[in-house]
Amino acid sequence: MSEKHLNITYQEYGSLEELDDKDRELALKAIDAMKGSYAPYSHFNVGSAVRMSNGKIVQGANQENAAFPSGLCAERTAMFSAGAKYPDKDMESIAIAGGVMGRLGHEPATPCGACRQVMAQYQAKSGKPMSVIMVGDGKVWKFDRVDDVLPLIFNSI
Ligand code: THU
Repeated sequence: MSEKHLNITYQEYGSLEELDDKDRELALKAIDAMKGSYAPYSHFNVGSAVRMSNGKIVQGANQENAAFPSGLCAERTAMFSAGAKYPDKDMESIAIAGGVMGRLGHEPATPCGACRQVMAQYQAKSGKPMSVIMVGDGKVWKFDRVDDVLPLIFNSI
């Protein structure tokens, strides 16, 4: 037996102002997308924005449903929309912002496991790293590739 270690590196920014222009724009688009959230059950409003290789930005927001599993997270709403709209383009980056009652949380909003798996698929589809930006009021985290938020990605089929 040998013990293995996974080493994950990410960047923490103290505010949106510290991000480079492209990442700040995407983070602001994710915050803006929170307006489209429909969350009558959790009251947790999430927005997401995907930057495509053609420079377009596609937004999404969580959509809840009385039949709970029928709802969908903001990130998947954004990625599926982006994938459907620009099937031949790559997803370069995704930003996520969220908070209770439409107010951006202090801590960055972190994507659920199912959304990470979908990110992994689109990253594999493009063959290039897709960065993941998690936006909070007090800090922002940036991961340079999906592998860093979903180690040991399922890609066996
Ligand atoms: N939610 C997202 O939109 N993204 C995530 O990654 C985690 C959770 C939504 C789903 C649901 O509408 C609400 O947040 C509470 O779970």
